[in-house]
Amino acid sequence: MMSTTIPRVSSLDDAKDLPHRPRPLPFRLLRTLFIFLVLGLSLSLLGIYATRHFAVQTTLSGAGSTLLRSCFRADDPPPGPGLDPWIRPPLGASHSMTDDELLWRASFVPQVEEYPFRRIPKVAFMFLTRGPLPLAPIWESFFKGAEGRYSIYVHALPSYMANFSSGSVFYKRYIPSQVSEWGRMSMCDAERRLLANALLDLSNEWFILLSESCIPVRNFSFVYEYFARSRHSFIGAIDDVGPYGRGRYDLRMMPEVSIDQWRKGSQWFEVNRKLAVSIIKDTTFYKKFEKFCRPACYVDEHYFPTMLTIESPHLLANRSVTWVDWSRGGAHPATFGRSDITVAFLIRVLEGRTCEYNNHTTTACFLFARKFAPSALEPLLKLAPDVLGFG
Ligand SMILES: *[C@@H]1O[C@H](CO)[C@@H](O)[C@H](O)[C@H]1NC(C)=O
Ligand SMILES: *[C@@H]1O[C@H](CO)[C@@H](O)[C@H](O)[C@H]1NC(C)=O
Ligand SMILES: *[C@@H]1O[C@H](CO)[C@@H](O)[C@H](O)[C@H]1NC(C)=O
Ligand SMILES: *[C@@H]1O[C@H](CO)[C@@H](O)[C@H](O)[C@H]1NC(C)=O
Repeated sequence: MMSTTIPRVSSLDDAKDLPHRPRPLPFRLLRTLFIFLVLGLSLSLLGIYATRHFAVQTTLSGAGSTLLRSCFRADDPPPGPGLDPWIRPPLGASHSMTDDELLWRASFVPQVEEYPFRRIPKVAFMFLTRGPLPLAPIWESFFKGAEGRYSIYVHALPSYMANFSSGSVFYKRYIPSQVSEWGRMSMCDAERRLLANALLDLSNEWFILLSESCIPVRNFSFVYEYFARSRHSFIGAIDDVGPYGRGRYDLRMMPEVSIDQWRKGSQWFEVNRKLAVSIIKDTTFYKKFEKFCRPACYVDEHYFPTMLTIESPHLLANRSVTWVDWSRGGAHPATFGRSDITVAFLIRVLEGRTCEYNNHTTTACFLFARKFAPSALEPLLKLAPDVLGFG
């Protein structure tokens, strides 16, 4: 019943009927070709269908995304990390970043001014020391009860191994450091390193530079409010026309720095977050000061005061909040030891001078004082509760 002349190739089953009667070669070839044609056609049709179908699906899911997402959100864990990794402060003060990496990382500044989380601004206390902090006990006493409103950073000689116990406020607060020399750019590098480390904690709002011979002369709440309410940052910046001021200016600083912009101030500054970022991101003034302010030009007395006077003069109080006594004359200020520490002496530090605070004259000019020898510690601890208001 199978005809050899009229090929029926619509069913593949037909092939079974022809085991012993092989068809001529041209016929078989034609049939194979036809099968491939049908197969190819269906595949491409399927392809077109699939493309359209999924395109429509995508459009639909776009339109109905709110509904879809609200269905999933109920039980599924969040799709990725939240804000936390971006705002969590670093755990300790150590890290493995190079200076370049650190300064770059620290220069990140949010452009949206309002923080979308509860941020309690903190004071960053930055200690510049060769290593030991002999007056640490008076600081421990000062910080008592202020948890969450301060952080501490210590820059020491790289070889120094601190051994504060885990109960101390200085425990694990030493940052990766380099050798720094007084009056040289390496000193400003150390200060920038401290600022950059402190900037990594988004909550730090005020940054104060201190030395191992500094002590607090007011209680923590007084210090905190003093910074928080001030319209200015406390960095000394005066135009000293004498040989130790303008006399250290080098004409090759032009055009970045002119002589009337040249300022002098104590190294022990307080700056807010905005000024701290200006300092660590600067490359323009850095190059000039590195090249043209070398001893007898002491760069740590001129670089930041001059740079900030040029960039943000209206934000500066042009005075320091760290008391120091130059009255004995000479190249170094007076150092006070055990026998100097009396009630009368401390009252003189606290109220001996007047200054401007938010455009009002006041005797509350100083929050810290220097320089104190280790022997001053014991009498200071004894007098602090009555005279300094803490301990
Ligand atoms: C820390 O080291 C110093 C010497 O560098 C030593 O005098 C002091 O006792 C040590 N303190 C502690 C708590 O181990
Ligand atoms: C801090 O000192 C101020 C005045 O110096 C005082 O009024 C205030 O009670 C002190 N605060 C604490 C917590 O001791
Ligand atoms: C500090 O000095 C600059 C000029 O160097 C001035 O613009 C600014 O008003 C001064 N600050 C205060 C609080 O007087
Ligand atoms: C600051 O005080 C002076 C005079 O005491 C006044 O002329 C000036 O307007 C005041 N500035 C501000 C910002 O209050």
